[in-house]
Amino acid sequence: MASELLVIEGLGKTFSAPAGDVIALNNIRLKVRKGEFVTIIGPSGCGKSTLLKIVAGLDTRYTGTVLLNDKPIEGPSIEKGFIFQEPRLFPWLTVEKNIAANLSLKNPRVRQRVNELIELVRLQGFEKSYPRELSGGMAQRVSIARALLRNPDVLLLDEPFGALDAFTRTHMQEVLLDIWQRNGTTMLFVTHDLDEAVFLGERVVIMNPRPGHIRSVLPVDLPFPRKRSGTAFQEMRRLVLNEFEKVEEPLYDVGGGI
Ligand SMILES: Nc1ncnc2c1ncn2[C@@H]1O[C@H](COP(=O)(O)OP(=O)(O)O)[C@@H](O)[C@H]1O
Ligand SMILES: [Mg+2]
Repeated sequence: MASELLVIEGLGKTFSAPAGDVIALNNIRLKVRKGEFVTIIGPSGCGKSTLLKIVAGLDTRYTGTVLLNDKPIEGPSIEKGFIFQEPRLFPWLTVEKNIAANLSLKNPRVRQRVNELIELVRLQGFEKSYPRELSGGMAQRVSIARALLRNPDVLLLDEPFGALDAFTRTHMQEVLLDIWQRNGTTMLFVTHDLDEAVFLGERVVIMNPRPGHIRSVLPVDLPFPRKRSGTAFQEMRRLVLNEFEKVEEPLYDVGGGI
């Protein structure tokens, strides 16, 4: 039991809007082990970002139970690191200062931690560069390092490589797996890219919309490093794709009346 880092039971989220309520999440149930790499995949609008924001503590208005380390999530905290699709760096600060955020690099412990992180995300030599001098992949590595500064229990990544070109994305997936293997940080990774979900995840959570819910959770029982061209990988990819192609009965009528 103690190995469960994150426990989500009966989670629901409804947005109220003038045009009517939107049920963004319905009865979500998911447990994530400490150190596990879980990917979440689903079409646009199925509630992936809403789910991640709730786990991050960025949205506390939900129904149901969300526990991290056995405690209800009540707001942002150093146990959770969040990475958005865009790096969101401070343009006027160097790479190392962006990573240190509001801590002083004059503090030897901060200095040492920032050096470790620069090595971990492979940015040696770019410590004094500014965000405008970095490629998209490098900028995203800075934001990963910054999220890891206080050694969070879980990294929450919302389509972090979605804006990168295919080659950079593949490289960043390898960088992230290396970080995961060296650091042991639990990863909750949202994507709408099937290959990415299967390449990274020990389990793939498949979500569907209207209302957003978990359709199935598939274990990906392939050792790392994985080979995309391998038969086992292709077979797994097909399995996930099949889940999307199956026709699903609506959970309940959400209106429309046609
Ligand atoms: N702040 C908001 N106000 C109203 N509706 C929202 C808000 N944020 C998200 N939604 C709605 O909730 C649903 C899920 O959105 P989201 O979590 O962003 O999906 P995804 O990340 O899977 O694309 C969508 O129908 C979206 O329009
Ligand atoms: Mg989203």
